[in-house]
Amino acid sequence: MRVIIQQDYDKMSKWAADYIANKIRAHKEDRPFVLGLPTGSSPLGVYRELIRQNQAGELSFANVVTFNMDEYVGLPHEHDQSYWYFMHDNFFDHLVDMKKENINILNGMTDDPEGECARYEEKIASYGGIDLFMGGIGVDGHLAFNEPYTSLTSRTGLRMLTTDTRIVNSRFFGNDPEKVPAMALSVGIGTVTDAKEVLVLISGHNKARALKETVEGSVSQKWTCSALQMHNGAIIACDEEACGELMVDTYKYFLDIEKKERL
Ligand code: GLP
Repeated sequence: MRVIIQQDYDKMSKWAADYIANKIRAHKEDRPFVLGLPTGSSPLGVYRELIRQNQAGELSFANVVTFNMDEYVGLPHEHDQSYWYFMHDNFFDHLVDMKKENINILNGMTDDPEGECARYEEKIASYGGIDLFMGGIGVDGHLAFNEPYTSLTSRTGLRMLTTDTRIVNSRFFGNDPEKVPAMALSVGIGTVTDAKEVLVLISGHNKARALKETVEGSVSQKWTCSALQMHNGAIIACDEEACGELMVDTYKYFLDIEKKERL
């Protein structure tokens, strides 16, 4: 696992955006570059930088296919807290050459969740898998909506959200946890770790415990993010604030070995 420690959120975002942009630019195969994407506040800085590069003519999305990690059950596209709305509002609508047919987001309004999730997995496979999955994590270490105790080999499916997650996410629903959907469709931990590379963004004091468990903890279904330790191409991009609970030698080790990456 690589851990890239940057001074703050903006530098973490810039580093991650450049990493993704360079991968897309270097992709010379006939098949499209397949990019997994998250929602949340963590990737917003990355999205802003990718949009800037795209609008400046430095980066094309014409040969990129995207698969989003998750979607709430029961929120229509036009609901401003649906992840479909979030992705269009914060990313896709600003790209000059992203093809609508290349955007894949689980349909949380489906009346056949099992079929929807099976088709999602099949569609990912039809492209030859995901080249790079970007993710964020929750304070409880959930990756996509794979809450604590979700199997580390799980595939795309229906998930119950924990009360803790509904409380955390209630900041977007008028601070009322009851208004946060109780269920979501989500890629599985196995779906994420099947990607050739996984890049997870972890920033802020409130993620310090989750970063520690991701990097130093045991591989455990209690912290589903810890599955990344078993992945051969996992990168954590984080800021100083999130490092508050790392052991000093862990922190120094990654600062040293990745010093060329420091912005
Ligand atoms: C939600 C999403 C996750 C995301 C997490 C963290 O629960 N389902 O995919 O990683 O929030 O969000 P934030 O980046 O806003 O802290």
